[in-house]
Amino acid sequence: MNLKILVTAGDGIGPEVTNEAVAVLKEIAAQGGHDFAFTAKRIGGVAIVADGTPLPDETLAAALASDAVLLGAVGGNEFNSLPPDKRPEAGLLKIRAELGGFANLRPAFAFRELAVNSPLRHEIVDGADILFVRELLGGLYFGKPREWNRTAGEAWNTMRYTREEVARVARVAFDLACKRRKKLTSVDKANVLEVSQLWRATVNEVAAEFPGVTLEHQYVDAMAMHLMNRPRDFDVVLTENLFGDILSDESAVITGSLGMLPSATIGGKVNLYEPVHGSAPDIAGKGLANPLGAILTGALILRHSGGLEAEAAAIEASVRKVLEQGFRTPDLARGNASGFTVLSTKEMGAKVRETLSESLSRRGAAQAV
Ligand code: NAD
Ligand code: IPM
Ligand code: MN
Repeated sequence: MNLKILVTAGDGIGPEVTNEAVAVLKEIAAQGGHDFAFTAKRIGGVAIVADGTPLPDETLAAALASDAVLLGAVGGNEFNSLPPDKRPEAGLLKIRAELGGFANLRPAFAFRELAVNSPLRHEIVDGADILFVRELLGGLYFGKPREWNRTAGEAWNTMRYTREEVARVARVAFDLACKRRKKLTSVDKANVLEVSQLWRATVNEVAAEFPGVTLEHQYVDAMAMHLMNRPRDFDVVLTENLFGDILSDESAVITGSLGMLPSATIGGKVNLYEPVHGSAPDIAGKGLANPLGAILTGALILRHSGGLEAEAAAIEASVRKVLEQGFRTPDLARGNASGFTVLSTKEMGAKVRETLSESLSRRGAAQAV
């Protein structure tokens, strides 16, 4: 399999975690005879400093010419006073819009080994396995009009969706639910917002195409609570852009750390892969970042852009094994470090590669017999 992968590492811990993800993908390529070609380009704050814009044309052109884009994270405190359209985050929103992927898949899988590190009780989180499908190109993030009118002392954004925008992401979510436990929870605020009423009506229409899937609706406020009380009751969770942003970070409490969560954005010209977390300025440059979310994001590249299911599963199994053996980055050891070996970002990446390499060579040896 040949894959051209553009790496836009970005800011803060972005380069630290994407380095580990790329190294794991190189291990897969070396052992499996695949050809993965990596190119690196700037995005976010580093691009503002070097090129005067958070998404240089060269980066966008390279992204459009690749098979997959792996993005680290963007953002830094030094840019916090800039208006939204000049910030590092504007580069991320622009690359999302240009690549065109509208369905952002954010799996939140609770590894049993990490249950002890969740502030929730073991019996609440054990076995939780949720797939958030977050609409990524609509809602408040892109709706117009938007403005901060300083003279009037007034600001506004627009939460806007068309029926087609809701229907296309709903179809992706229903389709994925068919391949999982066949339950879909659509999250909205239809008791208050017209845009949510359109959302709910459209999801109900699309549901008719998928009679095998059980659909339920939840209001976003109640859903925030249900996720903490009974996360195991949910399978696929479909929601709009901002609600999905918030609920997916909340799901980090179920999985033990934000640093564990991967994502894949599909449905456009080129798929975009990013861990869910941000640039984490509070720990950047210290070797403290958890690279597992980025490494698991690498597995999603193989699954969704390479059709390499076995290789994706091998990465996921290696992550599990490393956790089973008691290796933790500091965010995962939080609250209960005794009995664990705490590793730096690079050490954790190396541990995953070592475990992966052993399992791939065992598999190779078994096939040769
Ligand atoms: P954040 O996700 O960067 O960090 C939140 C908390 O989680 C911090 O305490 C951080 O140390 C911790 N954390 C995050 N990832 C971790 C990892 N891999 N390992 C260990 N700990 C980790 O969110 P924030 O602090 O609210 O935002 C910081 C900047 O990142 C902002 O500029 C924001 O806009 C940006 N951001 C970017 C993306 C992205 O590029 N995809 C996503 C979210 C936030
Ligand atoms: C995410 C981030 C981004 C978002 C920001 C940085 C634009 O929080 O990917 O979850 O809100 O989509
Ligand atoms: Mn977010």
